[in-house]
Amino acid sequence: PFDWYREMRESAPVRYDPSRGCWDVFRYADVKRILGDDGTFSVNPRLADDFQEPERPEEGLLFETMLFKDPPRHDELRGVVDDAFEPRAIRALEPEIRELATDLLSDALADDRGELDVVDDFAYPLPVVVIAELLGVPAEDREQFKRWSDTLVESSSADDETEAFLERQQQAQMEMASYFFEMIADRRESPRDDLMSQIVTRELEDGSRLSEEGALGTCILLLIAGNITTTNLVTNAVRCFDAHDLFDELRAEPDAIGRAIEEVLRYRSPVQAMSRVATEDVTLRDAEIESGDRVVAWLGSANRDERQFEDADAFVPDRSPNQHLGFGHGTHYCLGAPLARLEASVALEELCTRTATIETVDADLQPVRSSLIYGVESLPIRYERSS
Ligand code: HEM
Repeated sequence: PFDWYREMRESAPVRYDPSRGCWDVFRYADVKRILGDDGTFSVNPRLADDFQEPERPEEGLLFETMLFKDPPRHDELRGVVDDAFEPRAIRALEPEIRELATDLLSDALADDRGELDVVDDFAYPLPVVVIAELLGVPAEDREQFKRWSDTLVESSSADDETEAFLERQQQAQMEMASYFFEMIADRRESPRDDLMSQIVTRELEDGSRLSEEGALGTCILLLIAGNITTTNLVTNAVRCFDAHDLFDELRAEPDAIGRAIEEVLRYRSPVQAMSRVATEDVTLRDAEIESGDRVVAWLGSANRDERQFEDADAFVPDRSPNQHLGFGHGTHYCLGAPLARLEASVALEELCTRTATIETVDADLQPVRSSLIYGVESLPIRYERSS
C-alpha cells in the first residue's frame, strides 16, 4: 500500500471516498490531530450516519468496551485493567514469556528439517498463550483455548463463508463464551491472583462492577486487539531483519533489538488504520467533514510521512527519534503496548540466540486478508541452529 499512500499524501491528503462512504486521512500531522481530539472525532461507531447494527453478537459486545467508548466511560472501563498493563507489571512477566518462547522454539527447531513457519510455529501461538496465562486459563485448557482462537482468527480472513464454516465458527464462539462465563462466575465467587479476577471484581466509579457481558467483552477485546497484532509484529520484524541482513548484527548486540522493533512498528505497522466519526462539522485542510461522517486515519501512511521522518521510506534500525503512530495516539493509545514490545523483543532475542543463520524461503507470500492489518499469512524460513 506504500506507493498508494505516498501518492495520496501528495495529491489528496484528506479525501472523500464515495465507494466506501468515508474520508481518508494520510498525513502524520492530520492523523495525530484526529487521534488526539476525541471530542471532535469519536470512536463510537453508532454516531455514524450510515451505522448498521452488527450481525455478529461478539461485535455488539465489543462496542461496549473501551475501544469504542469515548471518555468518561472509556476511562472508567480502561481503569478496570490498566494497572495490569503498566510497564512495571509487564516487566515482571518476562521470565514466563521467555519460557513460553523457548518452549515454542524448541518444538519448532526439534525436527531437524532446517525449516519452520514463523507464523504458525512461533508468532501466532506466543501471544495467544501469553494472554491465556495472564487471564488465568489453567495450563491443561490452553490447547483448547488456542483452538478457539484459531477459529476466531479464521473468521476475519476466510473467504469461503460456507455453511459448514459458519457453523464451526458459531460453535467455537459459543464454547469459548461459555468457558469464559464459567471462569467469570468462578472468579466472582473466589477471586485469585489473575487478570480475570481483576476484571470481575474491580469496582467502577459508582461502586458497581462489570456485568457478565461487560467482562466477556473485555476478554474478547484483549484477544482480538492483542493477538493478530502481536503475531504480525513478530513476523514483520523477521521479514525486515532478513531483508536488511540484520540478524548477525543483532546476535552480536541484542540490546539493539528493542529499537529495531520500534522501527518495524513504523515501517511495517501491524495496524494500518483506525476509524473515527466526526461529532460536529469540521474543516481539515480544504475538506469540509460533516457531523456523522466516518473518517479513516491511516497510521501506516502517517508513519511513512517524509514531513515527519527523515528518509521515511528507508528502514533505519536505530532510528531516533522515532515517534511513530503504530500504537495509535491519545486517549486510545494501545493498552497492550508494553506487553507487545516485551513479547516481540523476547521472541526476536530467542530466535537470534537459537539460530546461527536465518533466511526467508523465497515463497509467494500471501498478505493477511484484511485492509487494516499488515502482515503475511505464513512466513517459511530456513535456519541453521546455533551450536
Ligand atoms: C488499542 C495497536 C498489541 C490491547 C490499540 C490501538 C492501536 C493498537 C493502533 C489504538 C486504537 C484506536 O486508536 O482506536 C497495537 C499493535 C499491537 C498491539 C500494533 C502489537 C504489535 C496489543 C496487545 C494488547 C492490546 C498485546 C492486549 C493484550 C489494546 C486495547 C486497546 C488497544 C485494549 C484499546 C485501548 C483504548 O481504547 O483505550 N492497539 N496493539 N494491544 N490495544 Fe493494542
